[in-house]
Amino acid sequence: MRIVRTTDYKDMSRKAANIISAQVILKPDSVLGLATGSTPIGTYRQLAEWCAKGDCDFSHVSTYNLDEYRGLSHDHVQSYHYFMRKNFFDHINIDLANTHVPDGANPDSDAACAEYDRIVADAGYPDLQLLGIGRNGHIGFNEPDSVFSKGTHMVNLTQSTIDANSRLFDSPDEVPRQAYTMGVQTIMYARSILVVANGKDKADAVRAMCFGPVDPQCPASILQLHTNCTVIADEAALSKCPL
Ligand code: GLP
Repeated sequence: MRIVRTTDYKDMSRKAANIISAQVILKPDSVLGLATGSTPIGTYRQLAEWCAKGDCDFSHVSTYNLDEYRGLSHDHVQSYHYFMRKNFFDHINIDLANTHVPDGANPDSDAACAEYDRIVADAGYPDLQLLGIGRNGHIGFNEPDSVFSKGTHMVNLTQSTIDANSRLFDSPDEVPRQAYTMGVQTIMYARSILVVANGKDKADAVRAMCFGPVDPQCPASILQLHTNCTVIADEAALSKCPL
């Protein structure tokens, strides 16, 4: 695991955007695995700025998002599909037909998850997977568990995740209790992984991810076993790491 320390959120976002931009320059038809949450928003903004200047071209890129709330359609304002359009896709020159998010509107979880596994496999898995990290060490919506998950599956969100994500909804009651998420095994198939983290709220999770035992109680800890994983985090998120 490579750990890159940044001064603040802006510095983290710019460095992460630089790595994604380099990936797309070197391989214009890159397959990108993308994440939601507040952390990558600055990275997406920076990439959109470079795209507007003509410095970054997404016209041949395809994207596969990690997860989606179960029960929300693509146009629901709280869906991750909507989030991706608002925060990224509407501001870059990507063909929306090449963007993919699990189908939260399909109530048949087995069918929705099998279909997503199929399309991610058909794409050959991401060249680069961008990840945030939950306060409890989750990646995508892979919550702490007794085993690492494999393919796309339905999850019951933990109370800690529901509480953390309720800030984005009008009330905690509105936060969906279930989601479809790419599994840990699928995430590990990506040829490179880029984790972004900022703020002291993430300090325990970042320490467990980078220095704790590889344990499904901290799903992100499996990334220690990936051969090409970079963590870009600010001072606050790294404050509990023995660096
Ligand atoms: C959600 C997403 C994760 C994300 C996490 C942290 O639960 N499913 O992919 O990493 O939130 O979000 P934030 O960046 O807002 O702290």
